[in-house]
Amino acid sequence: MKLISSCMVALVAAAGAVLAQTLDEQIAERIAPPSESCMAGEACAAAVPAAAQLGGAARSGKAIYTKSCSVCHSAGVAGAPKYTDVAAWAPRITKGIDTLYTHAINGFNAMPAKGLCMDCSETEVKAAVDYMVEGSE
Ligand code: HEC
Repeated sequence: MKLISSCMVALVAAAGAVLAQTLDEQIAERIAPPSESCMAGEACAAAVPAAAQLGGAARSGKAIYTKSCSVCHSAGVAGAPKYTDVAAWAPRITKGIDTLYTHAINGFNAMPAKGLCMDCSETEVKAAVDYMVEGSE
């Protein structure tokens, strides 16, 4: 009888250790950032849903500009109108904001669709357009 109960104690202790390890592993998995094994621009990155589509808050226009648009729009790559370049933006702004939104979302000549920000929602791309236009008037 004594032997059986000490076996039981050992068994319970072992089960507890296994459970604790499993929980630690689960927690590590859950807090790992989704980008850890998937770089922006890779095909797998497109599978990460936009924050706005998850019901989270949309990122600001400034954040999107900095992350995706500034690559071309800060230096004027391939003829991109530079951020804060009033003369470059004036003829574009006269086309109307809706045209600029459409061109930013669908692409326009060398301007790629969504400025290559594949995880951006349309709302976020529009916010980035607003940010650039407001900074370039
Ligand atoms: C790969 C470079 C590149 C990136 C990245 C890029 N753009 Fe552009 N963008 C361009 C070029 C080039 C033009 C000029 C196209 C033309 O007028 O022929 C342009 C033009 C535009 C225009 C003016 C369109 C018009 O009708 O005159 C808007 C608005 C715009 N971009 C928004 C954005 C936004 C918002 C982002 C980020 C989400 C972005 N762009 C990222 C290259 C880029």
